Amino acid sequence: MRPSMLFNVLILFLFVQTSFCVSPTIKDVCSKISGGSVDYNFCVQALEADPKSEAADVLGLAAISLKLSIANATSIESKIMEFLKNVSDPTTKESMETCSHLYENTTITVLKQSADFIASKNFTAAEDVIGSASIVGIICAEELRETPLAKDCDNLSRLIFLATAVIHEILSTIDLHF
Ligand SMILES: *[C@@H]1O[C@H](CO)[C@@H](O)[C@H](O)[C@H]1NC(C)=O
Ligand SMILES: *[C@@H]1O[C@H](CO)[C@@H](O)[C@H](O)[C@H]1NC(C)=O
Ligand SMILES: *[C@@H]1O[C@H](CO)[C@@H](O)[C@H](O)[C@H]1NC(C)=O
Ligand SMILES: *[C@@H]1O[C@H](CO)[C@@H](O)[C@H](O)[C@H]1NC(C)=O
Ligand SMILES: *[C@@H]1O[C@H](CO)[C@@H](O)[C@H](O)[C@H]1NC(C)=O
Repeated sequence: MRPSMLFNVLILFLFVQTSFCVSPTIKDVCSKISGGSVDYNFCVQALEADPKSEAADVLGLAAISLKLSIANATSIESKIMEFLKNVSDPTTKESMETCSHLYENTTITVLKQSADFIASKNFTAAEDVIGSASIVGIICAEELRETPLAKDCDNLSRLIFLATAVIHEILSTIDLHF
C-alpha cells in the first residue's frame, strides 16, 4: 500500500469512527430532552455556562448539570440567609425559613448524592434520589414567588429538571442497548 493511500484509508477510518460514535453534544442532548419540563434554549445556555460542557459526553453533561444545580442552590441558600436578617413580614419570613431548610437539608444533600451515584455509574439511584430535589424546587419556587428570590428559585427548579432529564436520557440510552 502506498503511503498516500494508507493516509486516505486512515482518514476514512477516522471519519467513519467519529460519525458512528458521535459523542452527544450539548445540542444533541438538549434537543432530545427538550419539551415538557425542559426548554431547549435554557438547556443550551445553562450547560454552556461551564466551559467543560463543550467536550463532555452525556455522562459529563449530567455531572455538569448537577454541579450547576448545587452551585445555584448554595448561592440561593446564602441569599435567603441574607434576606432573613431583614425580613419583617411573618409569612415571608416563614416561607424563607422553610425553603432555606429544604434547600440546605434536602436539595443540596440529594443533588450531591445524585452526583456521587453518577460518578459510580449507578444511574437508577441517581434518578431516584433527585426526585425530592425536583419537588422542593417546585414548592419553593411557588412559596417564594412574591419575593426578590423568585427568579433565582425558578431557575434552580429548571436546572434540577434539566439534570433529571439528562440522567433520564442516560437511562433510556442504556435501556436501548441492553
Ligand atoms: C444559576 O444558573 C444560571 C443558569 O441557569 C446561571 O446563569 C447562574 O450563573 C447560576 N448561578 C450559580 C451561582 O451557579
Ligand atoms: C434591610 O431593610 C432596610 C429597610 O427596609 C433596607 O433599606 C435595606 O436595604 C435592607 N437590606 C437588605 C440586605 O435587604
Ligand atoms: C438543617 O437541618 C439541621 C438538623 O435538623 C438543622 O440544625 C439546620 O438548621 C437545618 N438547616 C436549615 C437551613 O434550616
Ligand atoms: C445503586 O445504588 C442503590 C442505592 O444505594 C443500591 O441499592 C443499588 O444496589 C446500586 N446499584 C448498583 C448497580 O450498584
Ligand atoms: C436564569 O437562567 C437564565 C438562562 O440560563 C439566565 O440567563 C438568567 O441569568 C438566570 N437568572 C438568574 C436570576 O439566575
